[in-house]
Amino acid sequence: MKINERKNQKISKNDGIMLVRTIRRSDRPHIAALQTESWQDSYADVLPESYLTDQLAEDLKRYWGTVQIKPEDIVMVAEAAEVIGFIAIWCRPEPFIDNLHVKPSQRSRGIGSMLMASAARQMIQQGHNTAYLWVVESNTEAIRLYQRLGGNCTDRNLKDLFGHAVPNIKIEWSDISTLLNSL
Ligand SMILES: CC(C)(COP(=O)(O)OP(=O)(O)OC[C@H]1O[C@@H](n2cnc3c(N)ncnc32)[C@H](O)[C@@H]1OP(=O)(O)O)[C@@H](O)C(=O)NCCC(=O)NCCS
Repeated sequence: MKINERKNQKISKNDGIMLVRTIRRSDRPHIAALQTESWQDSYADVLPESYLTDQLAEDLKRYWGTVQIKPEDIVMVAEAAEVIGFIAIWCRPEPFIDNLHVKPSQRSRGIGSMLMASAARQMIQQGHNTAYLWVVESNTEAIRLYQRLGGNCTDRNLKDLFGHAVPNIKIEWSDISTLLNSL
């Protein structure tokens, strides 16, 4: 995938233009559906199958229908013909990267890194230098990606995923400018 130098745009020779932009209210149901698909694909080893198939979609629909996004928060979507990825960062005040998801069919094409880089540019513009996230411990591929993007594993704890306690690893960036390398 080729990166266009223009702000927030990335061009794929095969798939037309992909744009990374700030979330709109109308994106919320699409984000909920994308996160449902992403968790069903990636979290089969950490959450009960019955929860993933029967309850998750409803929980995420409710969550994204009601969660308050403050002006200082950074929630961005990657859009081609449809929304194919998103990132949600709560800046209250230190940036906490709460969600990063790319549609399963679109992974390993640079979209996740591009979302991280676009969000990092926004964080830096807002005066931030650091950020952190918690990632499911068994999600070694995502941990590898975060380490490649300059993050360090600094802690380990159980985290609540809609009522399910799951071992997580904390990843911290002491300098988020390392994330800009993917732009
Ligand atoms: C993690 C994720 C957002 C990365 O997006 P992406 O567009 O695939 O990322 P990039 O193309 O920029 O980087 C690719 C790297 O992501 C990681 N990755 C690829 N598929 C992945 C998957 N199913 N789950 C987790 N990480 C994955 C790998 O390290 C990959 O490197 P590789 O191509 O050399 O193997 C995306 O894979 C995803 O949505 N995964 C499931 C949800 C998730 O794990 N989110 C992070 C929670 S903290």
